[in-house]
Amino acid sequence: MTRNVVISGGGTGIGLAVARLFAAGGDRVLLVGRRREVLERAGVPGAVVCAGDISGVEGVRGVVRVVDEEFGGVDVLVHGAGGNGGLEPSSGSSDPLEVVSHEWGVNFRSNTLSAVLLTEALKERISSPGRVLFVSSIAAFRGSGSGAYAASKAALHPYAHDLARQLGPRGITVNVVAPGYVEDTEFFGGPVAEERRERLIGETSNGRAGTPGDVAETLHWLASAGAGHVTSQVVQVNGGAERGH
Ligand SMILES: NC(=O)c1ccc[n+]([C@@H]2O[C@H](COP(=O)([O-])OP(=O)(O)OC[C@H]3O[C@@H](n4cnc5c(N)ncnc54)[C@H](OP(=O)(O)O)[C@@H]3O)[C@@H](O)[C@H]2O)c1
Repeated sequence: MTRNVVISGGGTGIGLAVARLFAAGGDRVLLVGRRREVLERAGVPGAVVCAGDISGVEGVRGVVRVVDEEFGGVDVLVHGAGGNGGLEPSSGSSDPLEVVSHEWGVNFRSNTLSAVLLTEALKERISSPGRVLFVSSIAAFRGSGSGAYAASKAALHPYAHDLARQLGPRGITVNVVAPGYVEDTEFFGGPVAEERRERLIGETSNGRAGTPGDVAETLHWLASAGAGHVTSQVVQVNGGAERGH
């Protein structure tokens, strides 16, 4: 059966790998991101695209309009949009408290609010059975330096648990995938310094970086019929890095 799959952040990195995998399996995909040109040149066969900032209500309403026009309903909702805020405009302030306020606000809008708003807007359009899948991070378990990014990802976990209870009676599962270091994404805004790369890989038990495909395959399995009894879980995809070495 062809499924309707909505993927935020579907134009690059992990979201793009997710889109390619579902499309290759015959599903219809809707890619959401702020940069239209990135979505259009992603080259996912048959993809519908919707450009908008889903950290705000207007952008989310735009996605709902496209879903209603093109799909009519949603079978799988994958929240790939997000980032650590490092690529967003800075506060421009020299006041340390303003800087902190800006950083936490950016991270919560980008990672938490984007996923919560899109879920709430599409909740009633999700089919039975259906799937909601969040992308968290190893940072949610270990911190991320300032705490802002990590906390904004960790906030998705209790939201997913509440949602799983709420939507479970409709045959909808809700899960979270928390990746470790993943290469070939725009997350770091450019090449990662070799020393840092080696340190991140050194934390894994299998001695390699994660790929967008590693995360996409896990999300794809969680969306399968075989994973129908798996809900309210946080699945870590990090080569064992969260356990330390
Ligand atoms: N790469 C890693 O090592 C890693 C590790 C753990 C978790 N993650 C998480 O994995 C997810 C995917 O990231 P990635 O690594 O694949 O990096 P990425 O290539 O930067 O993907 C993030 C995507 O989200 C979109 N996006 C960001 N903010 C948005 C907004 N407000 N509205 C709509 N779209 C938005 C971006 O497109 P536009 O800029 O065009 O909007 C981009 O396509 C993120 O949630 C990230 O936090 C990544």
